[in-house]
Amino acid sequence: MIRIRRAGSTNEPTGRVGSYYMVTTTDLVIGAAYLRCIGCNDEVRKPTAEFACPRCGDRIEVAYRREGAPDAAALRELWRERKTSAKPIDQSGVWRFREALPILAAGSEAVTLREGNTPIYRLARSAKSAGVDELWAKHQGMNPTGSFKDTGMTTALSMAREKGFEWVGCASTGNTSASMAAYAAYAGMRALVLIPEGKIAWGKLSQSLDYAATTVQLRTDFDGCVRVLGEVIGQFPLYLLNSVNPYRLEGQKTTAYEMMEQLGWEPPDHVIVPGGNLGNSSALGKGLREMRAMGLIGRLPKLSIVQAAGANPLVRSMRDSGGERLQPVKAETRATAIRIGNPASWKKAVAVLRETGGECLDVTEDEIGVAKAEIGADGVGCEPASAVTLAGLKKLTRSGFVKRGERVVLVLTGHCLKDPEYTMDFHRAEGDASMRKPPVLLDADAAAVIGLLGGMER
Ligand code: F0G
Repeated sequence: MIRIRRAGSTNEPTGRVGSYYMVTTTDLVIGAAYLRCIGCNDEVRKPTAEFACPRCGDRIEVAYRREGAPDAAALRELWRERKTSAKPIDQSGVWRFREALPILAAGSEAVTLREGNTPIYRLARSAKSAGVDELWAKHQGMNPTGSFKDTGMTTALSMAREKGFEWVGCASTGNTSASMAAYAAYAGMRALVLIPEGKIAWGKLSQSLDYAATTVQLRTDFDGCVRVLGEVIGQFPLYLLNSVNPYRLEGQKTTAYEMMEQLGWEPPDHVIVPGGNLGNSSALGKGLREMRAMGLIGRLPKLSIVQAAGANPLVRSMRDSGGERLQPVKAETRATAIRIGNPASWKKAVAVLRETGGECLDVTEDEIGVAKAEIGADGVGCEPASAVTLAGLKKLTRSGFVKRGERVVLVLTGHCLKDPEYTMDFHRAEGDASMRKPPVLLDADAAAVIGLLGGMER
């Protein structure tokens, strides 16, 4: 018999701003959490500092020992009920689903900036251009620091604090660092950010400075930053918050839960995500898989991954070896968030493609620019890396993989204001003529403005 612990009976405030006791012992938890290697499948009691399996060196994931099936209807009700709670932990769109991620010990605290709870928007104009009747955007750019990274940062940084670390660190193309800097500052911890010099968007760099992280620009690319951070971690007690940290993916998977909840627990036919380091696609796939195992959804949507043509190691891997081997590339794209040539979570992403039957494809710089302008013209907007999803969808409808009557969700990963320079360049100079909306310079004269409006076509 399943008993529901009412929202009001848990999580007493500790008196520290933003910090509340976590209780992970409700009767509905999906099982006891442990770490498992995705290569040898063994339980990993003590991963390396870079979250590798100490035996075979492969990536690890959080797994759950389940006893029986949880009550799906009771879970749905509990998660919905928490939306009206005044407690910070319930107001988090990640910890609201905490029965699905019982990773913190009872009595531990979660560090939350009220991440998640992001909107899902209908895209009318973009749907028309892509050739589908029903198109949705799950806008992860509406998180506290403007990207999906917050959903995983709340979980992984809470683990860092539980483990007693003073320092956290990441290599980043800009969004992970912005997110980590904010959560670390909020928790009173210290943050080391390694970013590739000259290759991240200003909005993101400025966030890291504003949130008072120690920000280091290295004369290399993202993949070089990952390498250097790995060496630092070997010699300095710093908790790694890149997406090889499996607790990041546990938080990020809740986006899939929230998406299904918003769609009435009726899965769409397709979910389309950008692919960079491939943590997000892996996390969403894990969320979908677990929801099906728990009986929360009856089937899996096809999850497709889109990369920039200049940063497409997964596309090449699928094409050349069916996902058996990864051949790293020297990455180049103006969608700097996904300028990644040697993605950490590629094996997990391949598993998601295989399991859901999704496609893996790439799109050109021009296609990304137009798609971003179209999402903007829908009044929704996103950063360049997010726009690969619409550009990819257009290719998938042309190839017949996505059919007009199917329901599609694009995951928009970052906010429009992250990279205004890209947007300005597109509209002022470089963009496709059909989508450009450059600013108009006029004298301070009403007649001139009216003359302009009169001459415009709809
Ligand atoms: N979209 C945005 C806006 C991103 O910032 C990233 C990754 C991705 C998509 C790709 O997600 O890596 O999980 O496949 N940004 C990382 C960072 C690498 O450092 O901010 P992924």
